[in-house]
Amino acid sequence: MPCRIAIDGPAGSGKTTVAKILANRLGIYYLDTGAMYRIIGLYLDEKGVENDSDIEKELSTIKLEFINGDFYLNGKRVGDEIRTPYAGICASKYAKKAIVRKFLTRIQQKISKNENIVVEGRDIGTVVIPDAEVKIFLVASTEERAKRRYKELLDKGVNVSYEEVLNEIILRDKQDTEREIAPLRQPDDAILIDSTKYTIEEVINKILEVVLERC
Ligand code: C5P
Repeated sequence: MPCRIAIDGPAGSGKTTVAKILANRLGIYYLDTGAMYRIIGLYLDEKGVENDSDIEKELSTIKLEFINGDFYLNGKRVGDEIRTPYAGICASKYAKKAIVRKFLTRIQQKISKNENIVVEGRDIGTVVIPDAEVKIFLVASTEERAKRRYKELLDKGVNVSYEEVLNEIILRDKQDTEREIAPLRQPDDAILIDSTKYTIEEVINKILEVVLERC
């Protein structure tokens, strides 16, 4: 039986940090589905396409690959250009589109099928892997999430203000929870962890306990 760990939650809740460390400790794959929405969101934004038929045309020409933990768009390795607040907004905007979700969900399901893998996103436990062995819903206060994101971006050398990051998080929360298709919500059978109250290590240990029980 594979061990598929679905980690969902809002922007900046600590999903990426936790998912990466967890996958590393368990020696299993890690899939960042948010990165996939960022890649496609930026690409479609650059092309300036808005309606479904134009988006569909663009998607049919795109080759998105996941090789050894890296994404390749039409043969070119994707880097930190997808980590800006603007890329997050583009991701969230196009993530509302059924056609984009269908395109990416299919790729995500293919990658995670029968794998031991940690998959993080917004709809992993609800849509992408509804029968995941472990489902975690990670949350934190809005201010805490903005603070963390801001620090992360500064460390990466991305030039932004705290207000810009906070506003981006508020806007994305709204778009992600209010969209009609696959909105961000806690799966009924997920374990809720509020990372404001715990250190990363404590969050990881809590998840590892569940993994030991179920995998
Ligand atoms: O996780 P990250 O913040 O990088 O995700 C960027 C955006 O991609 C989210 O705000 C959300 O709109 C979208 N997303 C999604 N479903 C996922 C992962 C990300 O809609 N599974």
